[in-house]
Amino acid sequence: MPLNPVARIMRATAIAATLSAAGTLGIVGTASAADSGDKPQIDVLNWWTSGSEAKSMRVLQQMLGDKGVKMNNDAVSGGGGSNARTVLKSRIQSHNTPGVAQIKGPKIQQWCETGLIGSMDKAAKSDNWDEHVAPRIAKSLQCDGEYVAVPFNVHRINWLWVNRSLLKEVDAEMPQTWSQFVGVLKKLKKADITPIAGGGNTWQVGTAFDALVGTVGDAKFYRKALIKLDQDALSSDKMVQAFKRLRTIQKYTDPNAAGLSWNHNTGMVVQGKAAMQIMGDWAKGEITNDGKTPGEEIACVTMPGNKNSYIYNVDTFEAFTVDSKSRQKAQAVFANTVMSPAFQRKFNMAKGSIPVREGTSLKGFDLCAKRSAQLYKKAKKADALVPSMSQDMAEVGAVKGAIFDVIAKFYNTKDMTAQDAAETLASRVKQAKQMSQL
Ligand code: GAL
Repeated sequence: MPLNPVARIMRATAIAATLSAAGTLGIVGTASAADSGDKPQIDVLNWWTSGSEAKSMRVLQQMLGDKGVKMNNDAVSGGGGSNARTVLKSRIQSHNTPGVAQIKGPKIQQWCETGLIGSMDKAAKSDNWDEHVAPRIAKSLQCDGEYVAVPFNVHRINWLWVNRSLLKEVDAEMPQTWSQFVGVLKKLKKADITPIAGGGNTWQVGTAFDALVGTVGDAKFYRKALIKLDQDALSSDKMVQAFKRLRTIQKYTDPNAAGLSWNHNTGMVVQGKAAMQIMGDWAKGEITNDGKTPGEEIACVTMPGNKNSYIYNVDTFEAFTVDSKSRQKAQAVFANTVMSPAFQRKFNMAKGSIPVREGTSLKGFDLCAKRSAQLYKKAKKADALVPSMSQDMAEVGAVKGAIFDVIAKFYNTKDMTAQDAAETLASRVKQAKQMSQL
């Protein structure tokens, strides 16, 4: 069972003391900002700042507003959330803990350890989440058997977004295999069309790398390498091939991409300034927001060469301990609203993902969402659903940081060989694993 309130405070105090002694976080408090009046309100810390992400959050704000809860949308820019995670820690330091924060994968469990985490269990029990969420996902939302986080969606990572008319211009077919893909890249380059928009920062390159690992091995290989962190898999020929493919991608990527955000890059594909982007289906939110229909003007294609993996990312928000009844009430309304079928439909249509609540109707969703749902089912049957490394669904802090470091080093050092990169990957991961056990 989760900690009772007294034990929680004791644990939080102990952790605060340890952290301030170490000079890392200073004093940690569980109190949030003072209540303003009696109206329930909730601070929602997140990293959803692109056009479609902000629009999706407005759906939530509106629905909560209709239920009498004021939502403060505390969005911190930076795809992938590293800035938002830093802000979360500093808010805790300054006794301004949000009601909920966007936290994913194994980090949900890490936060439980701090004793600063609130509960969503009442809401979960009253709506029977156990029955509505896939067991593996449901488990990741719980600490000691109590729900502490609520899931919003399921995103798929291994997509290629393609501007159909640019492909037509060079007389190319939609690529399905890796070699067809390379053929298309060559044709585009020859015609002076930027083949790929991407590579703006390590997070974007890491996202592409995730998809590439799915092309060199099946779901079993992905798991062995990026989840179980098996040394042989990490330094295998398959991993060498994944790095070789990353080098190929780099050769055909916009050379002026440094610093450009993922949504800027999606915009380049939509506007016909580049032909393709490798990105999770949050890109679809931007396509829709730009007035185009995903699956039509901009095609959604499984990453060419993908074996069988459905690399998934579930966005979740974890509750923090709050200091008043009205804020607790706001947390409960938040949890209930997010899991409601109405929200699941409206939010996910805007966000580009599919509902995480099983059995939610997809009527009115675009072709790509329907395709994603079919592929999810197929992968589930084939045991080929894999949590995304790049989106923090698989690894915690140090290990993921080490993987990203190697990817960045390889990307920025053009004469580093793929062989070298795979060997470095294995040794850096080993080191990070050992360090995190200390
Ligand atoms: C991911 C998040 C997605 C998406 C993306 C870009 O980490 O899970 O929902 O929005 O970042 O911001």
